[in-house]
Amino acid sequence: QSLQTTFPKDFLWGGATAANQIEGAYDKDGKGLSTSDMAAYKDPYAGGKVDNFTFNVNSVELEEYLNHPDKYLFPKRWGIDFYHRYKEDIALFAEMGYKVFRLSISWARIFPTGLEDKPNEAGLAFYDKVFDELAKYDIEPLVTMSHYEMPLTLTQKYNGWVSRELIGLFEKFARVLFERYKDKVKYWITFNEMNMNLNSIYTGAGVLADKVDNVEEAAYQASHHQFLASALAVKAAREIMPEAHIGCMINQIESYARTTKPEDQLQALKADQINMFYPDVQVRGKYPNYMVRYFAENNINLETKPEDAKILAEGTVDFIAFSYYMSHVTEARPDAAKIAGSFDSPIKNEYLELSQWDWPIDPIGLRISLNKLYDRYQKPLFLVENGLGARDELTEDGKIHDPYRIDYIKKHIIEMKEAIQDGVELMGYTTWGCIDLISCGTSQMSKRYGFIYVDQDDKGNGSLERYRKDSFYWYKDVIASNGENL
Ligand code: BG6
Repeated sequence: QSLQTTFPKDFLWGGATAANQIEGAYDKDGKGLSTSDMAAYKDPYAGGKVDNFTFNVNSVELEEYLNHPDKYLFPKRWGIDFYHRYKEDIALFAEMGYKVFRLSISWARIFPTGLEDKPNEAGLAFYDKVFDELAKYDIEPLVTMSHYEMPLTLTQKYNGWVSRELIGLFEKFARVLFERYKDKVKYWITFNEMNMNLNSIYTGAGVLADKVDNVEEAAYQASHHQFLASALAVKAAREIMPEAHIGCMINQIESYARTTKPEDQLQALKADQINMFYPDVQVRGKYPNYMVRYFAENNINLETKPEDAKILAEGTVDFIAFSYYMSHVTEARPDAAKIAGSFDSPIKNEYLELSQWDWPIDPIGLRISLNKLYDRYQKPLFLVENGLGARDELTEDGKIHDPYRIDYIKKHIIEMKEAIQDGVELMGYTTWGCIDLISCGTSQMSKRYGFIYVDQDDKGNGSLERYRKDSFYWYKDVIASNGENL
């Protein structure tokens, strides 16, 4: 075996998005309300420092938003109008040379309440048009079936994924997608960042936290149901489209111990286990032993059925997708589990710079993550999100100079290349928010990740016109040189 010093020839370069952050048209052509349509804009600077709140909605807020929608702004309802501008946007992706485009399907476009027997034809037709447009340019779609949204009715009727009822409803949705798009889509991810259920239970699982007794237990119960739904979807995919690749996904947060103290090292191991628990189940097809103790000590009692073990064993994934934005520092302390993965952790890494939204920037952490994930699973990895949220300025002559974004992405690509030399099998790289979109956590437009600038502000004012940033031309060259010209 020889040393792999370059990106593989068929490396999938591209960009990533999610339906609820780009499409808009939230009530068009039969789409039902989604959980993400309830993410009301709140000023993230109100407290003096930027608040990276993950959007959680409780039952009181939900009632208020439903009864008085005019008092609030819901930016995810308008997105960047990809619903009507997909042709123009895909042409720009093609101009950059994308091999792959990651997008998600809005469940509520296909089944407006999730409960219907028959899918909404207009919703299915929209994604047909998008896939056909991508095919014109030989861009492979990478489809996330559930990216932080679901029909709102499923929250109202069942309190989301805490209910076992959702498994069958998701399997129905999955089968419709596979039957319809089996000849157009080869790469699939079942659930986006499933580990984020633990700190954003509404976003990830459609659960109103004030309607459950023990939120952590509910997060694991919802995750259990999503594991089963994912496994059943994998099984269906194998029957319907045996050639397809289907993966799981986590938000990979590299955790460093604060000191060499063995107790801190042990805490870092535990933080890893909580993160890796998700792919452990989805790659190995069973719950890892370490969770038995965790559940016992944390008062978590899951409702399961005897057939669950077989379903999980039969529905293992063939690649591991993950997002990587930052690393965290952990230490042995009573609130360690609570602050793990939180954006405003009190423990800072003195060696790292922060983004404008206080996210630690750590490219070497990506190399460590890639190695760890590959060592653990020996399955192909796909880095499906990575990027820098930053404020950009549109100059009078229609330019956006964003050297900070180029710098961030360049440094991460260098570490990806190092990891490939370390022997890691990496299928591709889709940068997050390849076109500016509505932020998931803050619902801001001004937190921009794209190579393409979209003229719109946080309140939804603007022409929606698209502009190429400096990073657009840079990334085009990266792709054309297969990662050699950085
Ligand atoms: C990931 C999500 O966690 O982070 C995306 O999958 C999200 O949906 C991205 O947009 C960046 O987070 P934010 O809050 O900056 O949009």
